[in-house]
Amino acid sequence: MNSELPTISLHDVCFSYQDTLVLKNISFLVNPGEFIGIIGPNGGGKTTLIKLLLGFLKPLSGSISIFNQMATLPRQQIAYVPQSLHFDKDFPISVLELVMQGCLSKLPWYGIFRQTDKKKALDALEKVGLLDFQNHPFGSLSGGQSQRALIARALASEPDLLLLDEPTASVDTQAEGDIYRILKELQGKMTIMMVTHNLQAAIELFDRVICVQQTASIINPEQLCEHFVHGLYHTPLIKLQKPIPL
Ligand SMILES: Nc1ncnc2c1ncn2[C@@H]1O[C@H](COP(=O)(O)OP(=O)(O)O)[C@@H](O)[C@H]1O
Ligand SMILES: [Mg+2]
Repeated sequence: MNSELPTISLHDVCFSYQDTLVLKNISFLVNPGEFIGIIGPNGGGKTTLIKLLLGFLKPLSGSISIFNQMATLPRQQIAYVPQSLHFDKDFPISVLELVMQGCLSKLPWYGIFRQTDKKKALDALEKVGLLDFQNHPFGSLSGGQSQRALIARALASEPDLLLLDEPTASVDTQAEGDIYRILKELQGKMTIMMVTHNLQAAIELFDRVICVQQTASIINPEQLCEHFVHGLYHTPLIKLQKPIPL
C-alpha cells in the first residue's frame, strides 16, 4: 500500500440514472488502511456509490480516483463482496473452488491455477473459519457461511481495497457477529468500505462513517445519535437560538 496517497479520492461527483439525480456533489478522501462504514436510508445511493468506486458506473460529472488512477481503469487491487449472490444451489462448485475464483484475475499467462493460488484460498478459508468446509458444495452452505465464503473469495485476491455492500443483510445475528469479527481482524491491513444498516457496528468498528442520502456527510462514529439507530436520517442537529419553552 502506498501510504502517501489517499486510497480513494472523490471530487464533486454527481451521478444520475436517466433523468434522476441519485448522487450530488460527493467529495471525500479515504486514507490507506481506514475502515469506513457507509450508512443511509434505502434508495439513498449507497450501492450506486460502491458501483462507481468499482468502475461499473461512470460519474455524470466530477472525478473519482482510486490508487491515484481513474476508477474506470481495470485493476486487481480491489475486491468486492456483494449483498448476496444469485446462485443456482445445484451448481456443482465446492467452497474451495469458489474461493479460488478470487485468484482468477492474477492467473499466469498459461491460465492454470498454481499451488500458491490454492494456498491463498486455503489461508482465506481459515481466516473466515471455513477450512473444514472446503470440499462441501457451495450450495449446501447456510446464509452466513455463504457470505463468509464470499469474503474468503475476496481475500484470496489479496486486495488493498475491500468493498462490501450489506454483507450481513440476509444473515442471522450470530452470523452477523462472525462477519464483523472477521472484518475487525482485517482492520488496518487493507482499506475497507462497507455498507451497513447496523449502527451499533458503525459505532464500535468503523474509523469513520459516510452517510449517503443523495449527498454524503462524513460523521465520526461517536456522533451517531439515537435518531440514526431508530432509522431516521437527518441533517446534524443545530443549536437553537432560543430554548424550547417546556
Ligand atoms: N439501474 C437503475 N436504474 C434506475 N434507477 C436505479 C437503478 N439502480 C438504482 N436506482 C435508483 O437509484 C436510487 C439509489 O439506489 P441505490 O444506490 O441502490 O440505493 P441504496 O443502495 O442506498 O439503497 C434509488 O432511487 C434507486 O431506485
Ligand atoms: Mg443498496
